[in-house]
Amino acid sequence: MPERPDDDRRTFLRIAVIGGIGILTAGAGAASVFLPPRTGESAGVGPQPLIPIARLAALLKEEVLSLEISLSVRDGWRLRTRRQRVYLQRVADGDEASAFKALSAVCSHAGCGIEYREKDKQFHCPCHGAEFKLDGTLQKGPAPRDMDPLDVTVAEHEGAAWLFVNWQEFAMGTEQRTPRGNA
Ligand code: FES
Repeated sequence: MPERPDDDRRTFLRIAVIGGIGILTAGAGAASVFLPPRTGESAGVGPQPLIPIARLAALLKEEVLSLEISLSVRDGWRLRTRRQRVYLQRVADGDEASAFKALSAVCSHAGCGIEYREKDKQFHCPCHGAEFKLDGTLQKGPAPRDMDPLDVTVAEHEGAAWLFVNWQEFAMGTEQRTPRGNA
């Protein structure tokens, strides 16, 4: 696994913007350092799209990578675009999907965007104050459950190993995690 020479083993945040309608565009701002600009077909658009979200080489242990994906949803004749945030972490060595964790930033209380607070190394929701541990476990409500995990898979993309995320939304306001459509 690649290691940064100056890695001080702290958990910290990197931010990237990716996404598009079947198109992946990486890297605005700081993220372009880690995810060079590129385009490519996504694996699918529609319910539970499988999106190439990051090169494995860009995912280092003890970091939280914040990625914004852009989802296209056909609504009659209109094509709506929605942005969603995904937090990625490498939780073990190796290149298997099980070495990575992806968490949706959609808060299960009322749908606000959960943020990562580097100084506390935890997630929090700015709307009503819910707090979550680094692994997404609920620490303080009113969110009714842990952060929602997203399935990931590893596959080749543009000649390199990439992590693909299976975007999914879940019902809000319930302790039970119930998948719902992506529209
Ligand atoms: S929407 Fe997150 S705590 Fe209310």
